Amino acid sequence: MSNSPLTPSEALDLKRQFLAPCVGHFYDQPAVIDQGKGVWLYDTEGNQYLDLFSGVSVNHLGHANPAIVKAIQLQSEKLSNMTTIYLTEPALRLAKELSEICPIPETKVFFCSSGSEANESAVFFATNANGKPGILSLSHGLHGSTHATLSMTGLNFWKGYLKHPDSRCHHGPSPECLRCPVGKNKSSCSAECTEKLEEVLSANPDIGTIILEVLPGNGGILEAPTAFFEKIQQIISKYHLTLITDEVQTGFGRTGTCFASERYDLKPDIITIAKSIGGGIPMGAVLVRSDIVDQFKFPRASTFGTNCIAASSALAFLKEIKRLNIFEHVQLLGDLLKQKLQSIHSPWIADVRGLGLMIGVELCEPENSESPPAIELTNYVLEEMKNKGFLLGRGGALRNVLIWQPPLIIEWEELVTSVEAFKDILSSWETKAR
Ligand SMILES: Cc1ncc(COP(=O)(O)O)c(C=O)c1O
Repeated sequence: MSNSPLTPSEALDLKRQFLAPCVGHFYDQPAVIDQGKGVWLYDTEGNQYLDLFSGVSVNHLGHANPAIVKAIQLQSEKLSNMTTIYLTEPALRLAKELSEICPIPETKVFFCSSGSEANESAVFFATNANGKPGILSLSHGLHGSTHATLSMTGLNFWKGYLKHPDSRCHHGPSPECLRCPVGKNKSSCSAECTEKLEEVLSANPDIGTIILEVLPGNGGILEAPTAFFEKIQQIISKYHLTLITDEVQTGFGRTGTCFASERYDLKPDIITIAKSIGGGIPMGAVLVRSDIVDQFKFPRASTFGTNCIAASSALAFLKEIKRLNIFEHVQLLGDLLKQKLQSIHSPWIADVRGLGLMIGVELCEPENSESPPAIELTNYVLEEMKNKGFLLGRGGALRNVLIWQPPLIIEWEELVTSVEAFKDILSSWETKAR
């Protein structure tokens, strides 16, 4: 094989030969992404794509943001990684900033390198502090790939093969309004689905911790009615639970506020972050109320946790989101995008939902009250959107939800082109289906 850029078929050959087969990829005919600038991506064959998934909610400021690139360059020439046993400046400055941003009073920070590690550490601190081993999580959550976090994950797509889940983990239903078990809609909802959570809690008095994604991403952007979180907060008080909100996807403005929990006035004791915070460099962290973590008297570390390059990149990232006033931009564009997608009339669109720039479009077979997933159509739209230069995301327990989760710096005109392309592709499908 030459040193010239990989063609898609060479890349697929290498993947089949050398990558673990459990590592999936989108598309029958995937492109080899080679470069990124702002909201644009380029493959090895010179094709341009509008990034509408941000590497699964990582690239909030798009690709190659100059301030982040500069911070990474400067820091990598100076010092890269010393681990937690030495004091280094970027991580300490970052801990102070995160503590000031975080809505939890007197936040302390534990740094690590990924979302899984952050959630694993969060339940470690929570269960240690409340003295109860049991953990409650929701059916559409995804919390990571370690044994405990995969056991906390509700989605069968990810954990279906887990033969020996961690016995501390219990599950209750997510608010799946499209298939509401009691036939309510958002305006008539009194969050009856939370009764099932109470049943799980009553049957398992060893549960002291609840972990949830406020807006489950991989679970299909399940936007809950306000009533759901009001009930959750009441249940937390009634059963004296420690609340962990997993903001790995939703943190730092994705839903229009710094953290999605702020949109519902939830009061987490612990917030976990990863993905976007590192500005493209691996980083995770637990933001935890000091009285919880102060009780943990044993040593705990993470080799790359206080990585100087990641921390410098994160500091530049936080400065940029402030300078660009990004939360307001997200609120404005998010509402417009949702309205524009909701205005499309197609019998195949069962639901459009989400907050900020995290919007899902659920595709179902038409004229069927059970809302069976339109998988073939979902595959078709994803592939055709890619062929037209738009990289959308995908999720949902049934894998039939298209996801708009673009870099937060995207402009309205760019979003409009993606919705127009989606409409055309949907029309071509409807014509074929007739
Ligand atoms: C909400 C959520 N939590 C945790 C994780 C795990 O993060 P990581 O892949 O960095 O371990 C993910 C990954 O997609 C996620 O979406």
